[in-house]
Amino acid sequence: MEGLPNTGLDTTDWVAGELPPLEDMLSLNDFQIAAKNRLSRSSYAYYRTGALDEVTYQANLDIWKKVRIPGRSFRDVSNAELSTTILGHNFSLPFFIAPAARAGRANESAELSLVRAAGRKGVLYVPSISSTKSLEEIAAAQFDNQTLFHQEYIWSNASRVRDELSRMESLGYKAVFLTVDNTGINGIRTRNMRESDSQGETGHSATFDLQSLAQFQQMTSLPIVPKGIRTAADALACLQLGFPAIYVSNHGGRTLDGAPTAVETLMDIRMHAPEVFDRMEVYADGGVRRGNHVITLLALGAKAVGLGRTPMYANIWGEDGVLRMIDLLETELRTTMLLMGESNVNNINSSFINTKLIEHEFFNLD
Ligand SMILES: Cc1cc2nc3c(=O)[nH]c(=O)nc-3n(C[C@H](O)[C@H](O)[C@H](O)COP(=O)(O)O)c2cc1C
Repeated sequence: MEGLPNTGLDTTDWVAGELPPLEDMLSLNDFQIAAKNRLSRSSYAYYRTGALDEVTYQANLDIWKKVRIPGRSFRDVSNAELSTTILGHNFSLPFFIAPAARAGRANESAELSLVRAAGRKGVLYVPSISSTKSLEEIAAAQFDNQTLFHQEYIWSNASRVRDELSRMESLGYKAVFLTVDNTGINGIRTRNMRESDSQGETGHSATFDLQSLAQFQQMTSLPIVPKGIRTAADALACLQLGFPAIYVSNHGGRTLDGAPTAVETLMDIRMHAPEVFDRMEVYADGGVRRGNHVITLLALGAKAVGLGRTPMYANIWGEDGVLRMIDLLETELRTTMLLMGESNVNNINSSFINTKLIEHEFFNLD
């Protein structure tokens, strides 16, 4: 069960290598167990792996245990409102499908089932530049009026960057998530190394500094969102350079092991650069598996929350799996909101959570 919370999932009737019944999926963690059952060892390891001893990967899953959501009574919660905007675009839910490479390792339809499921549900999908399908194929699969962003890496080959940005623009992607926590090299992902010999080599630039980041904005008219922010100092640097948003992330624990969780980084920004939340949008991800995890990140100032591995695992069923995953998380989010006494997702703020345990441990505050 991969050390996941025991919620009574019974796999005794599952046949190794085959798809389990989709109805068995009642929580996002269930999709991970199903993917492990269905996929080859190497494909599962590719999605599942973190870097080094996976301290950050595990911290992402564990941090929620230290957060309390007291909840308020005596409030009218009869009309739940879960919709929000991201960079001015309307979405039905405050969580989105984050960029994750090679959806084709889970299903032949690869990113196409992700883009269709996201479109059907009105949620944001941000394909990875290392996707199985091309920018063009993914754009062609979207619904009319669907809004897609796209992720980009800082390739050392500048003409590749220019070419991809101009294709993103002309294909109608509305913003670029620029990943800044994976420069030069990948994390050492031992679990994946056991299954494959291609590691580390990324083609990403190792010389990308603050000046390069500033110049990057001149390369496209699309809004750029630096993804992989882990400190208040870097958040502030992005604000000073005029970016419209930042994306707090530790890459799902796949790059720098020991990097803080999104909860800790958001708290760091709240303490040392609170103006960031007033002047730019902040997105966050890492270990989000439950509705109350989404609530926690929103309460700490995130406008929207990303899901990396789980949509990939759910994609073993293609679109149906991804739709079910979105439905389950939506139901948990709605339920948590009603139980905590807030009907509008946009009103969730830090008064709804207690993070004293983390303040004490991570920031040494009394
Ligand atoms: C298999 C896999 C591939 C990923 N590929 C990318 C990528 O191409 N670009 C990127 O910015 N982040 C990538 N990520 C990181 C995700 O965008 C996200 O930050 C992370 O997975 C969130 O944590 P979670 O998996 O616990 O939800 C990848 C993550 C996984 C698991």
